[in-house]
Amino acid sequence: MPFHTTHATLLLCAALTFAPAALAQRGGRFKIYPPEAVTRGNDSYNKTCGYCHGEKAKGGQVGPDLIRSDVSLRDEDGIGLAEYLKGAVHQKAVKLDLQQPLVSDIAAYIHSRIVNAATQRGDGILVDAVANAGNANAGEAYFKGAGGCTQCHSIDGNMKGIGSKYDIVTLQDRVAMPSRGGPLGRGGGRGGAGGAAGPPGPLAITATVTLADGKKVEGTPVRVTDFEVTLRLADGTQQTWPREDGIPGVETHDPLAKHIEILKTMTDQRMHDLTAYLATLK
Ligand code: HEC
Ligand code: HEC
Repeated sequence: MPFHTTHATLLLCAALTFAPAALAQRGGRFKIYPPEAVTRGNDSYNKTCGYCHGEKAKGGQVGPDLIRSDVSLRDEDGIGLAEYLKGAVHQKAVKLDLQQPLVSDIAAYIHSRIVNAATQRGDGILVDAVANAGNANAGEAYFKGAGGCTQCHSIDGNMKGIGSKYDIVTLQDRVAMPSRGGPLGRGGGRGGAGGAAGPPGPLAITATVTLADGKKVEGTPVRVTDFEVTLRLADGTQQTWPREDGIPGVETHDPLAKHIEILKTMTDQRMHDLTAYLATLK
């Protein structure tokens, strides 16, 4: 027998199977690194880099700003940064012989500074950072080719004028994760927002539960495990059924599944390139 429950917290397990942790952590814009790495990196930065590159990587008397730096913006996980530090240009400024884990931590710290600058929307740094991080030609090639974006999007159709529709920062957010247009969109789906009542947006994840007698119930998946399934129904109430051996059956539908699938394999650089390209579609 189905019974009603009211879960205070929204546990959108179904969404998590679609959105891998790495993507969830990207925070929409830049990759978000673990706080421990950022803390270690901050310490190492202050000891090893800060006396030239200034407080909080904003640039000092000797070394340039690392927040707007191309090297920083193109870096992923400290790999590009380490290469740059080993290169002739930087070796001329200072001979550093650093282990990769240390550089990766410093990179995590620098990326956190970029995110910080990027969230201060009034700040021109942000706009510059995002606008300069990508290569529009590379983005166009990927959009029309390997990225497979044209399967669902067309620059004369649903992408027409997207460069005017959003400021560049929001645009990059949208590339990373289109809005689901409702309470189950980005904010709600990220695993917390308590007051998630109300109708789901047009792009929300939905689920069909098929009961033992063949009856089908549609709703928004709140919790799906091997042992129970909870849906929120159109009238806002929740219903939970115990599950055994896959009965009742649960089928989830995510209008953005394919989109998210592509994002899983996308590097930060591709994301920046696509943003730069879409920004030209005025
Ligand atoms: C002794 C001073 C000094 C120290 C210490 C130092 N740098 Fe630099 N760094 C420089 C100078 C000078 C440049 C500019 C090089 C050029 O372009 O000629 C530079 C350039 C850079 C750039 C490229 C900036 C750009 O223009 O895009 C990065 C990234 C960078 N440094 C990272 C680091 C990191 C990370 C550390 C610590 C591990 C560090 N640096 C330590 C002096 C220093
Ligand atoms: C299988 C279909 C599919 C593919 C492939 C796909 N998307 Fe999407 N995308 C969607 C859907 C559905 C939406 C949400 C509806 C909308 O906003 O148009 C969306 C929305 C977007 C948005 C937000 C649009 C807006 O106006 O807010 C951007 C930007 C975007 N996609 C970029 C891309 C890029 C870049 C690629 C290729 C790497 C891509 N998409 C591939 C289905 C897809």
